[in-house]
Amino acid sequence: MTTPKWLETAIFYEIYPQSFYDTNGDGIGDLRGITEKLDYIKDLGCDALWINPCFDSPFNDAGYDVRDFRKIAPRYGTNEDMRRLFNAAHERGMRVLLDLVPGHTSVEHEWFKASMRSDAGPYAKRYIWSDSPWERFNGIDNISGYLNGVCDRGTVAVNFFSTQPALNFGFAEPEPDKPWQSAADSPEALAARADIKEIMRFWLSMGCDGFRVDMAHSLVKADKGYKKTIELWREFRAFLDAEFPDAAIVSEWGKPDQSLAAGFHMDFLLHFGDSHYNDLFRDNPYFSGAANGDLTEFIAYYKKVRAAAGLEGLICIPSSNHDMARIARKLTNDELKLAFAFLLSMPGAPFIYYGDEIGMRYLEDMPSVEGGYERTGSRSPMQWDSSLNAGFSSAKPEELYIPIDTDRARPNVREQLADENSLLNEVKRLIQFRRGCEALWNDRAIEFISGAGAGQVLAYRRGGEGGVICAFNPGRKAAEAPFLSGLKPLYMISASKADFKGSVTMPPQSAGFFQ
Ligand code: GLC
Ligand code: CA
Repeated sequence: MTTPKWLETAIFYEIYPQSFYDTNGDGIGDLRGITEKLDYIKDLGCDALWINPCFDSPFNDAGYDVRDFRKIAPRYGTNEDMRRLFNAAHERGMRVLLDLVPGHTSVEHEWFKASMRSDAGPYAKRYIWSDSPWERFNGIDNISGYLNGVCDRGTVAVNFFSTQPALNFGFAEPEPDKPWQSAADSPEALAARADIKEIMRFWLSMGCDGFRVDMAHSLVKADKGYKKTIELWREFRAFLDAEFPDAAIVSEWGKPDQSLAAGFHMDFLLHFGDSHYNDLFRDNPYFSGAANGDLTEFIAYYKKVRAAAGLEGLICIPSSNHDMARIARKLTNDELKLAFAFLLSMPGAPFIYYGDEIGMRYLEDMPSVEGGYERTGSRSPMQWDSSLNAGFSSAKPEELYIPIDTDRARPNVREQLADENSLLNEVKRLIQFRRGCEALWNDRAIEFISGAGAGQVLAYRRGGEGGVICAFNPGRKAAEAPFLSGLKPLYMISASKADFKGSVTMPPQSAGFFQ
């Protein structure tokens, strides 16, 4: 297997295209908007993008319900605009990952329409149709629901919302009395694979640098232990290695021991599953000054999956994403600086969700937009300056895709750029520091050296013997850090403005990198 060299130092920025920058005043962000803001992202220090789905869609799940995998949604622009975005990014030494949704389509996709019409045509088995409309797929792993009575065929399996029927990559062990369950190597399951490969080829040939893969674990059904799904992704990885060795794939899987074995270059720790990711910034967060948070279980999980996954792939910790509450929901500005010092000194490629770098708020109780539900509060328009709509769009405020934060003190890019002490400038400095310090690069070693129980200092060494020690005291009281004895601080953040002065206590709400 080959690993693209650029992943060694890549720092990603996730863009929710609807809400980033609107260039034609229709209230919806667009591809030209992303292109215009590339210099901002580069100046921040990020050199790779992940753009949420921007393909033709009826938008029942914000674009995760794809109607045409090969066409940019008209509201975002054209395929030509995408080509221009790839080129503009490459001119700046940046990479672009698109969001690949291989597990399901929209009910409006041509494949699904053909599949509804017939039980004989080439797309008849592209989806998982039972032979009876009374089938419920009860208890089958990786099937989240069903649609029946939508046409004169049986029941069809659903992958997420009811508007997202599951593509048929087969069953790990088809039940003998259910002939409608295809095997994972049946012609129909292989046809689905081949078409997904073609879609990857289509965008990669245009200049795309890889994919974030939606619900990557979900493809083969009833796949206990994910053996067949892992085999499938290994085949995709072999295809990439052979034809596009510089392309990278990151999975939404949340189990790096499985996904990295499946050939993904990267996987995320996320707000679901058993990673204890939420202990960092969300439920009773460790990085809050209340100092009740405890990272013991997070660290135990992290060590376990890292050992199981080996050193081949990257375990990535996002600041937030479009599916969870923003990192600023539970943390103050000063606490956010510590959280970013952590995110930008851990192994794996860092992923910054647009707006988190200025501490954009999670907007509570927002009415759902396009299947966002409570996720809508994390998807509001980017705040660029203090002009109309925070500089996001020239549309009337009531015409914005999602209303903008109405807080008069809402943060914005322009003001934060001008303020040395802003979160944005701290994040920029941290990124610069990471780039200049090899011990902190994405694939370098980590070793935990302090417990991080409630009220305790979190500390780890990066880059092995003689590397850099990263230490954090989010609490409101000074804390003992004997392992810092004799070390020299290289970088410091301290809300209390107290100095480390080479001592072995960490001041309240501080973080530092030492050698
Ligand atoms: C993933 C996406 C989420 C989407 C779902 C269905 O979890 O991140 O936004 O709703 O898959 O595609
Ligand atoms: Ca627009």
